[in-house]
Amino acid sequence: MPAFPEQSLPPKSVQFSRTTITELMIPSYANFGGKIHGGILLSLMDKVAYVCAAKHAGNYCVTASIDTVNFLAPVEVGELVSLMASVNYVGKTSLMVGIRVVSENVKTNVVKHTNTSYFTMVAKDEHNEPAEVPGLILENYEQVRRFEEGRQRKLEKLNQAARQKHTKPEFNIELSKKELEGERCVIAIKTPGKL
Ligand SMILES: CC(C)(COP(=O)(O)OP(=O)(O)OC[C@H]1O[C@@H](n2cnc3c(N)ncnc32)[C@H](O)[C@@H]1OP(=O)(O)O)[C@@H](O)C(=O)NCCC(=O)NCCS
Repeated sequence: MPAFPEQSLPPKSVQFSRTTITELMIPSYANFGGKIHGGILLSLMDKVAYVCAAKHAGNYCVTASIDTVNFLAPVEVGELVSLMASVNYVGKTSLMVGIRVVSENVKTNVVKHTNTSYFTMVAKDEHNEPAEVPGLILENYEQVRRFEEGRQRKLEKLNQAARQKHTKPEFNIELSKKELEGERCVIAIKTPGKL
């Protein structure tokens, strides 16, 4: 096996930290429409991401960012939601955890994919500073593909942040008033200037 350059921690396999949480969707999780609140699912996703990341890192971790979460299908009360998490990519102190969420109807055993998202977690040391994480041992084609996609996602994010920093135009209200014509808003500012 090739050595991991500039790393003092022994690398770990994806399997080592792979985590699944299954939870029954109880009536108190429902919204006014009788479906499960999106926030309940987000909280479970954060929980499974934490377990997976902390296991790989061997340290406490914090959530640094969450990629877009699209709710593809509603989740019903009484369904069993399973959240499967694995470390897709590791940087120096950050880890990208991929989470797939499925929901199963226990009577029909129909399983639907409700969402997939990527959580970036950062390991912290005892002084609350970012801590180095072990490298990742990639043992099959899928794991290499996910690692490369994670690396690309991180690069895109860094590039986007740099672009926004340098090119974000100054907000001009007069220009925006023109741009917003035809949009479903009414600009009703009573006092001029910023509030
Ligand atoms: C996220 C956090 C650890 C970054 O701290 P920082 O001092 O800016 O850290 P650095 O700039 O040294 O970056 C550390 C790592 O985090 C990554 N990172 C920082 N901000 C990030 C973001 N918004 N999205 C994704 N990754 C991020 C960096 O890319 C770096 O990764 P690498 O070491 O693998 O290359 C810090 O801002 C923090 O603690 N935030 C609060 C997190 C929290 O409380 N979450 C719970 C929400 S209630």
